[in-house]
Amino acid sequence: MVKPSIIAIDGPAASGKSTLGERLAQRIGYLFFDTGILYRAVTWAALQKLGRVDQEDEVSALSEEVNIDVRPPSITDGRSADVCINGVDITWDIRSSDVDANVSQVSAYPRVRQAMTRLQRRIGQRGGVVMVGRDIGTVVFPEAELKIYLVATVEERARRRYHELTARGEIAEYDQILASLRWRDAYDSGRKLAPLRPAEDAIILDSEGLTIEQVVERALELIEKA
Ligand code: DC
Repeated sequence: MVKPSIIAIDGPAASGKSTLGERLAQRIGYLFFDTGILYRAVTWAALQKLGRVDQEDEVSALSEEVNIDVRPPSITDGRSADVCINGVDITWDIRSSDVDANVSQVSAYPRVRQAMTRLQRRIGQRGGVVMVGRDIGTVVFPEAELKIYLVATVEERARRRYHELTARGEIAEYDQILASLRWRDAYDSGRKLAPLRPAEDAIILDSEGLTIEQVVERALELIEKA
């Protein structure tokens, strides 16, 4: 079987893209790359340096000079990669509610997107990669041979995120998660540049009512057909 060189997985927040991407990559021996990490790392760096993210020029300049290092995981604590900036491990810091609340705004800045898109193309051009994000099939790799757009209702996604957080021992409120997902869906889909939407040739995969194993099996079937 000749596998597609690049597999693009896009979809809204908490649709299970990362879990699918990670398992799929493992099954077919590909590199897994979660591009949300890059936007989160820039947001974290901006909050550290500027304390806020509304100064577009400063945040953009920072995104062009910051050195984000993503490597295979060195610890087995649930992470899919080590994420470092200037040697500091920020793997879990980029999952904080502070970063959650600011990352959509940062990822709407054109210069930030340009810098991150360049990075993603450099990583993906070697091939053998499952790349996960919002605009991989539409902007980063429109030539990808297989594009999957993963969907689930916002309520189902909120339930999954709630269980994920409480399983990690964090305090979470379902209603708050639901409201925040609704807000992020609207923001990510409504932005002018690279809005969240399926590419015309993307295959919509609805994970509602499916276990993660079933979603992985469906994706493997799509790889065989691609
Ligand atoms: O997938 P995530 O929740 O970690 O993504 C964090 C944010 O980054 C999200 O608000 C959308 C943005 N993002 C993006 O605009 N383009 C990507 N390719 C990946 C993420």
